[in-house]
Amino acid sequence: MIDFPRGFRWGVATSAYQIEGAVDADGRGPSIWDAFGAVPGAVAGGDTGAVACDHYHRMPEDLALLGELGVDAYRFSVAWPRIVPDGAGRVEQRGLDFYRRLVDGLLDRGIEPFLTLYHWDLPQALEELGGWRSRDTAERFAEYAVVVHDALGDRVSKWTTFNEPYVSSIVGYGEGRHAPGAREGHGSLAAAHHLMVAHGLAVRAMRGTPGHEFGIVLNQSPSTPVTSSDADVAAARRHDLLLRRQFTEPLFAGRYPDDYEDTFAGVTDLSFRRDGDLELISTPLDYVGINYYYRQHVADAPHRDPDPATRTSIDVGIDTTRLPDVPRTAMNWPVEPEGLTQTLVGLKERYPDLPPVYVTENGCVYPDHPGFVDQERIDYLRTHLAAARDAITAGVDLRGYFVWSFLDNFEWAHGYKHRFGLVHVDYDTLVRTPRASFHWYRDLVAEQRART
Ligand code: NOJ
Repeated sequence: MIDFPRGFRWGVATSAYQIEGAVDADGRGPSIWDAFGAVPGAVAGGDTGAVACDHYHRMPEDLALLGELGVDAYRFSVAWPRIVPDGAGRVEQRGLDFYRRLVDGLLDRGIEPFLTLYHWDLPQALEELGGWRSRDTAERFAEYAVVVHDALGDRVSKWTTFNEPYVSSIVGYGEGRHAPGAREGHGSLAAAHHLMVAHGLAVRAMRGTPGHEFGIVLNQSPSTPVTSSDADVAAARRHDLLLRRQFTEPLFAGRYPDDYEDTFAGVTDLSFRRDGDLELISTPLDYVGINYYYRQHVADAPHRDPDPATRTSIDVGIDTTRLPDVPRTAMNWPVEPEGLTQTLVGLKERYPDLPPVYVTENGCVYPDHPGFVDQERIDYLRTHLAAARDAITAGVDLRGYFVWSFLDNFEWAHGYKHRFGLVHVDYDTLVRTPRASFHWYRDLVAEQRART
């Protein structure tokens, strides 16, 4: 196996709505995912997160499994609707107590908590006031962040504001494939901006405790043109703007991308941008998390609304379905580990002052085999780890790696069909069974630790 630097953090990741269930327990308020799951046809199979892995009630058992796995770090998210059920005002102590018990259980086992404040489960009460289209939501987020930080700051030092703001804004408010299911060009760009403002407000509000580190998690992947034609190269650049640069330029360069206004001409009433926002958004960070699954292949495609001046959708005239002839996972995602190296190295080249990096998610779905021998997953993880190692060799300050996911869980609009876990979950009995990849990862972590 490949050697990683001393102190490299080995972890696994989950998120609240995907594993907790118990949506009515202990005063939790409804989230946009509860509402979205109730819309016929929104989630495959009519699945919802109502029970999920029932982690909320089975947390001690899951902690024991994490202890057995022997990881250094566990990345999880706090459900905002458990802490501030109405989105503002009243704080639910029972929600905070749950995460305190979780964190204590991690620390008892020598596992460092990496806490994410927002993994897509906005309180429904805030959506009813405009959700992320509204700047007020950013203020509410900062208030919530301070509540959690005050409650857990004595035992958690890694604080991530957002997981994949691209998905919350563009997929949720632009494409409508995720909660809240809106299809609005302008609304989705405003949402993207307000998420970034919320990030800056929250980091500023939480900062101050020595030793605490603050970061954000972005989904990143190279946008590769399918041919070298001018049209495809331009399409890949538009895709890169939508997926990456609208977030990374404000965060790491303190500016808006130069092609933003032209690309989004018809949908950019830019009044959601205010003086001082860039300064806020680019507030220095201690780390950035990268979620990588597959490389994007982009071709030029006709816009649904051909005139850029009057275009109202978020459609940027791209086709991402022309995939190369490489192996695919069960979700049809191309397996291209070198895309991870390119992502990490590319980011560092673009932003030389990039803070230290973690791969905060990487993983795959394959059909299960008898005995849960998931050799394909082991191969996927091994080759991606080698790609991560290559990025370190190339000069990237990569500090850790988290497998997505610890447990099978609610895969958003796909429901429970797609399983990412090192641990299999039987959704009828809720019995957890470690797969072969669990044992492989446990051994790898143990070997790496023994070596460093
Ligand atoms: C990224 C998301 O953060 C996570 O919630 C999701 O399950 C994985 N990708 C897999 O799609």
